[in-house]
Amino acid sequence: MNKLFSTFLLILLTIQFSGQAQELRSDWWTEARFGMFIHWGLYSGAEGIWKGEKHRHFNNYAEWIKYRNRISNEEYGELAKRFVWEDIDPEKWVIQAKKAGMQYITITAKHHDGFALWDTKVGNYSFKNYDPESRDILAELAAACKKHNMKLGFYYSHWVDWEHPYGWDHNRELTQDLSDEQFDKYWQEKVIPQLRELLTNYGDVALLWFDMWLGHEETIVQEKQLRQVISLVRELQPNCLINSRLGLPVSDPDIDYETLGDNQLGAIYQKNPWQTPGTIAHSWGYHALENDWKSTNQLLQALINNVSLNGNFMLNIGPRADGSLPYESISRLEDMGRWLEVNGASIFGAGGLELRPRQYDWGKLTFKKENGKDKIFLQVFNWPLDKTLRFTGVLTKPSKVYLLADKLQKPISHTQSGPNLHLHLPRLQPDPFVSVVVLEFDEQPELDKDVAAESSFGGVALHGGNALEKDVQLEKLDPPGRMVSPEYVNISQGQELNWKLYAIETEQKNLSISFANPGKKPIKGEILLGDRKMEIELKPTGKVVVEPNQNYYTEEFIDFPLGQFDFSEVGYHTIKFRILDKPSTTIRFNRIWIE
Ligand code: GLC
Repeated sequence: MNKLFSTFLLILLTIQFSGQAQELRSDWWTEARFGMFIHWGLYSGAEGIWKGEKHRHFNNYAEWIKYRNRISNEEYGELAKRFVWEDIDPEKWVIQAKKAGMQYITITAKHHDGFALWDTKVGNYSFKNYDPESRDILAELAAACKKHNMKLGFYYSHWVDWEHPYGWDHNRELTQDLSDEQFDKYWQEKVIPQLRELLTNYGDVALLWFDMWLGHEETIVQEKQLRQVISLVRELQPNCLINSRLGLPVSDPDIDYETLGDNQLGAIYQKNPWQTPGTIAHSWGYHALENDWKSTNQLLQALINNVSLNGNFMLNIGPRADGSLPYESISRLEDMGRWLEVNGASIFGAGGLELRPRQYDWGKLTFKKENGKDKIFLQVFNWPLDKTLRFTGVLTKPSKVYLLADKLQKPISHTQSGPNLHLHLPRLQPDPFVSVVVLEFDEQPELDKDVAAESSFGGVALHGGNALEKDVQLEKLDPPGRMVSPEYVNISQGQELNWKLYAIETEQKNLSISFANPGKKPIKGEILLGDRKMEIELKPTGKVVVEPNQNYYTEEFIDFPLGQFDFSEVGYHTIKFRILDKPSTTIRFNRIWIE
């Protein structure tokens, strides 16, 4: 019995310890929030064009050209001759990252093309075998990172390798059959020894970034091969972080952070460490025909969105084969850096609050405890024309409100009623991109996670996304890409939706309801505000043409005014909507608008 108990205790301690160790390992990374991703390799020399023909695949990722345009190892290797070594200087990348406010760099040590950026002793697919003038770029980058106190990590394509005869390729188009034994030969003779080199010869490796976009069970890669990688990393560099694209889920204690899909921004608040890899344009590697640059505002909003949900953003750039960056990249990085110089306090070491992620139509919020204060940063993407910023969801009164850009911290006047805070802002926004308002609290602010938020210019929309029922299923009618109808909730007899809202003053408010009734008959419903009832008739709503195809119709959502409701008390109110009739078809409920 005693033995059993001590074994149990040991297991418990081990679990706790490994959990804690994981947390400690990734702490710096969580705080860092913003990193640089660099895609640079032989493909940078091809620039998305091969023998007068552009990249063959619509996805047009320049770093995939070897595969998409079916280039042999030898011919592709010759691209090394295009590299302008006298101009290549990785320290410039580090300086650029610093200026942008980035806290770490991840570079493609080996991408899917199988070509190593460093002087590998494993095989002959690396610069030194194709261009005698070349140098070990990873050694230079590691030295520059050390000099500038920048963390460095390596992208390593473990699963896909188009050079090795037994490496995986996308749809098994290059070689049809690959046995487990053959794949393991690739693993043992290339992956493991190359990772050993990377983890031995370049100083501290802050993270390894693997790239498998499926769970390993769906691939040829076996769990024991992944475990072998993990043990190697832990043996050589215990502090090195490993991402989920290794092929294991984040719930695995050896996965330090989750990597979402390419350019996939966060949508929900998550406690575990996670990131979006996002690229500054469309392609990851340099592409001569690129014209899909994201704007600085888009990039800043992506970073802020992720931080507000407790995530990271790793922004990719693709330098040319002479090491230079296109002006579009430089200007965006510098704009972001200037923004972070002023507003970095709301990003670095900050996270989010567990309020509904999409409820503010003016922007996002981030949160941080700093110098004994709790600070909520309102990240205003859209400065209010009526000079009133409406923020719903915090009950505690802030002790100080000011603009982060204002060194003098001149107080911003505000009025608070329950969970509704109105900030009276200056007419002009202090920042051309995103302006930040700081709410400072002496104590931990009390949140109201249920109340429906006010919209800009006033008014509250009650919909499936802010109903009190947590399991509301939001639907969308549109065929992909045809934005003609809103998100809605299917609702039939007996079903109801409830909301909590806060009235700032006693007054009559106008209500309207928007829905689609695809049937032929009107359906009875009711709205209840406390013990007052309003019966409503939900009329058939007809069809709308989905342009540009004039023969294609979908359901129309119509707004019906419902008259006035009397909010006779300041404070919280509950609103209920339900269907009374047994409808022949379900009602597609969009929202109730109260103003
Ligand atoms: C995908 C692509 C790759 C790119 C990566 C970045 O996995 O295959 O080219 O490196 O995403 O997230």
